[in-house]
Amino acid sequence: MANKILFPENFLWGAATASYQIEGSWNKHGKGESIWDRFVHTPGNILNNDTGDVANDHYRLWKKDIGLMKRIGLQAYRFSVSWPRILPAGRGKVNQKGLDFYSRLVNGLLEAGITPFITLYHWDLPQALEDEGGWTVRSTAEAFADYANVVSRALGDRVRSWITHNEPAVAAWLGYEMGVHAPGHRDLSKATRVAHHLLLSHGQAVPVIRRNSPNAEVGITLNIGWNVPASNSAADMKLTRENDGKWFRWFADPLYGRGYPSDITKYFTELGGLPNGFDFVQAGDMDVVAAPTDFIGLNYYSRNLHRSNAPDNDPQIDFQHPKTPEYWTEMGWENYPEGLTGVLARVYFHYGPRKLYITENGASYSTPPDENGNVPDELRINYLRTHFAAMHRAIQAGVPLAGYFVWSLLDNFEWSFGYSQRFGIVWVDYETQKRILKDSAKWYKGVIKKNGF
Ligand code: FCB
Repeated sequence: MANKILFPENFLWGAATASYQIEGSWNKHGKGESIWDRFVHTPGNILNNDTGDVANDHYRLWKKDIGLMKRIGLQAYRFSVSWPRILPAGRGKVNQKGLDFYSRLVNGLLEAGITPFITLYHWDLPQALEDEGGWTVRSTAEAFADYANVVSRALGDRVRSWITHNEPAVAAWLGYEMGVHAPGHRDLSKATRVAHHLLLSHGQAVPVIRRNSPNAEVGITLNIGWNVPASNSAADMKLTRENDGKWFRWFADPLYGRGYPSDITKYFTELGGLPNGFDFVQAGDMDVVAAPTDFIGLNYYSRNLHRSNAPDNDPQIDFQHPKTPEYWTEMGWENYPEGLTGVLARVYFHYGPRKLYITENGASYSTPPDENGNVPDELRINYLRTHFAAMHRAIQAGVPLAGYFVWSLLDNFEWSFGYSQRFGIVWVDYETQKRILKDSAKWYKGVIKKNGF
């Protein structure tokens, strides 16, 4: 092993999950239906027709799960709140039992010395709001601000770190344009409205959270890949720019006061995605969206190599790694740690956030328990180690990265892939709900202890 890598003092080491992916108890204790409940109960949407009805049964096993976090030595835990557990109809009447669940969870974390990071929206919109148009209508943004008010009033005395949205690009494009996530629409002109209302709701919620949770830090989490053209041809570069613009700049630019990027406005217009221009943007909206935040959360997994099929395209000059498990996770995502240094530097030096967190990073490998009951997931350790080194390089270059959350604490329901993809550092036996710390969790424990490796 090369030189020792040490992280800055106070660097926060954590793990992340999301409500729908782990909680189960989808219709218990007054919880309302979410768009994900509806989506998974429609046959054909999810691999093997898996559902999150039970998932990791975390709603009942949360104490055990805090026990696991303690064993690993986690300093922070990022989880999301299920909106329909709090407001079964999306707005109006509060389900006290739902609020109590999260309140107990927060208390349990604090007693264990683990800092809670709450994500308010990790994609489980109340179905009642979807029935009124979901994120395509402006009133859903207002409902989100009310929901943020309810949650931050109840937990804001104890929770000091708030993330409004997780990956609005995925919610908008996968949910409303590509149809592979709930609510399963396939219409770019809907999705562009959705993107705006997600951003607007973020901006409306920020001051609400600040009011209810004094001294809190508030931010948003965006997904970002390392996008590169497969050659220097105009066609490959154009494709790369469009992809990066659609998935990242369309969200980051407005959040940092730069408005919607003009090149992607043109691109969406050509695709019919803005049939009435920006008729959904009202006066003052862009200032609301650009509300100052304390940090940006980034979810980084892989790089994306872009190759246009233009017939006269240049020969390809950049190639992906050989198709071995070391370089390719089971999601089919390339293991490309250099991209993590790149995205951190890019976001910091281009947008200037006050600080950054990696709110998700990790790898899907299905390594099962061996005959001794260990889970020898060396491939995941390799992925994590190389990404930690990549983060460290960004910190050395001056990026104020404050913490890291591995995706995920537990194997869980991986959206349209159901239970086929295992991202956890803890193995979950879905039949028995037994959990086993994988070797990666034990290795991570050592990293946290030494604040490096
Ligand atoms: C991210 C999601 C998270 C998980 C990982 C693998 O896009 O935020 O819920 O599914 O991907």
